[in-house]
Amino acid sequence: MTKAVDVISRLRGIGIVPVVEIADATAAIPLADALLEAGVGTIEITFRSPAAAEALAAIRSERPDLLAGAGTIRWPDQLRSALDAGAQYIVTPGWSDRIVAGAQAAHIPIVPGIATSSEVQHALEVGVTTLKLYPAELLGGVGYLKALTGPFPEVAFMPSGGIDASLLAGYLKVPAVIAVGGSWFVKKEWLAAGDFASVARSAAEAAAIVRQVRTG
Ligand code: 3PG
Repeated sequence: MTKAVDVISRLRGIGIVPVVEIADATAAIPLADALLEAGVGTIEITFRSPAAAEALAAIRSERPDLLAGAGTIRWPDQLRSALDAGAQYIVTPGWSDRIVAGAQAAHIPIVPGIATSSEVQHALEVGVTTLKLYPAELLGGVGYLKALTGPFPEVAFMPSGGIDASLLAGYLKVPAVIAVGGSWFVKKEWLAAGDFASVARSAAEAAAIVRQVRTG
């Protein structure tokens, strides 16, 4: 069983989460290798494409060093499929009582999406303290995030949505942020073209920013 605290501390250590939409499961292993080469130890495979479960299962069995989560989980059948594929954490775009309860019942760490203080308060009432702020940039970016940390100092945030390399450091400097999610360094076009060198280069650039912010 995956311990929530271990997963969250691994995500904190990594600092960035590649949010991937994978059209073809055969891209999963070269993609995983590009991320590992870049020093990015996790991947969030979004369940926005039919290949997601197969890609996740392939990574779990062939690249077990990569912490592999399932994202964009909206429906119970997607949650089941993600768990069957071996997902080590679950991410949702918005709040869903039934997905949160399902993940808690399965003892799988979940990072639900929220956008408002009411949702943060609701999350705390059901025992969830690590939340994805989505879509972070459009909601107001770092300023909005900091405003949410005031009344909720116990919450850890994983912001995503509209973030890129130029904005990454600003988010990472907020102490409540454990990791920043994004697709800018795992672009769909690169995956479709088999351009894993661009993934490795862009992921390494993001990992370098994490190191720079964290080591001062
Ligand atoms: C997500 O699900 O977190 C987002 O799709 C990632 O946002 P981005 O594509 O704007 O980076």
